[in-house]
Amino acid sequence: MVVYVASSTAPVNIATLKYWGKRDKILNLPTNSSISVTLCQDDLRTLTTASTSDLFENDQLWLNGEIHSLTSERTIMCLNDLRMLRKRLEDNDPLLPKISTWKLHIVSENNFPTAAGLASSAAGFAALISSISKLYQLPQSASELSKIARKGSGSACRSLFGGYVAWEMGELDNGEDSKAVEVAPKSHWPEMKACILVVSDHKKDVPSTSGMQLTVNTSDLFQYRIKQVVPNRFIEMKNSIIEKNFEKFAELTIKDSNSFHSVCLDSYPPIFYLNDTSKMIIKLINYLNEKNGKLIAAYTFDAGPNAVIYYLEEHESEVLGLLYKIFNKVKIGWENYKNLNKLSNFDNIAELETFDEIYKGVSRIILTQIGDGPMETEECLIDLETGLPK
Ligand code: DP6
Repeated sequence: MVVYVASSTAPVNIATLKYWGKRDKILNLPTNSSISVTLCQDDLRTLTTASTSDLFENDQLWLNGEIHSLTSERTIMCLNDLRMLRKRLEDNDPLLPKISTWKLHIVSENNFPTAAGLASSAAGFAALISSISKLYQLPQSASELSKIARKGSGSACRSLFGGYVAWEMGELDNGEDSKAVEVAPKSHWPEMKACILVVSDHKKDVPSTSGMQLTVNTSDLFQYRIKQVVPNRFIEMKNSIIEKNFEKFAELTIKDSNSFHSVCLDSYPPIFYLNDTSKMIIKLINYLNEKNGKLIAAYTFDAGPNAVIYYLEEHESEVLGLLYKIFNKVKIGWENYKNLNKLSNFDNIAELETFDEIYKGVSRIILTQIGDGPMETEECLIDLETGLPK
């Protein structure tokens, strides 16, 4: 059988100005613009191989070894858009194989444990769109493709770029101007590091899609956030990145995480994503910044209790010094870190007693940094003889 294949990897992104609220649920059009940092794919990425053959009977997906159907409304919208763009190419060039009507087999794998509870849908949709666009040899730019990824999951549009990324909310009803754009490439400010504290929690979080609908429909504070707070913050945060002003960037990041979790609490009934461990981490980062007399670390939390701490390489010793002091008993995460002996020492500080127990609420630590956008790869997850996962 003839099987066409293409593979691509895509990164996770963590917002520093949060997307929360939709003005159109079907097209995933947001009520505010957002900004994120793309994380390094060595630590967190999805690898996807897309393949097509006239002998395949169904569109099918194998995700981390398990078979899934490709029938969710969101995925179908993405596949339809990609097939339409391919069809356009085929209509204009009679020599191109007519693969737009064939079924797809997709195999996808994350290099990080699903159990970590990190939002993998952004990397997942970005890798899906990137691999199929490569398979179809589409000429569209990353911004154009980001509009397709957005329909899969809003935050996925930002994973089409590396470095510092903005998702411009747009105004049009059809979403044609709601897309991701680069604020600055990784090379502009490559010193940005991230430490993810994976917080253990047994309760099931409210999924972000329904959480944001509840906030849009019930929170008064939310109206203030989207009208009075975010528009200015969006401009200020972009400037802080362009000017490489970490203190400003950190202040805005912290405030925006707080603002997002406030509108969650202001929803009716209220939504809580932060747990007691998350709140202690907030206090710890506050303590660290106060102790240093300036902002050297910024925390941010998505729709769950995990903390992401952004800091610059030049402050690694102070930031990780404190985090190691508190979280050295966490089993997974420190083993690959080479510079433990170079960390600042926080020994015998009575003030740290309050934080003695918080390591118990953290199951794993991921030390990473800013990273690149989707990348084509020769790695292939599909057996070309059978069209099935290897
Ligand atoms: C808190 O992108 O997962 O992480 O568009 O419904 O798929 P859907 O939502 P999703 O929401 C992410 C929300 C967030 C903030 C952010 O990433 O900007």
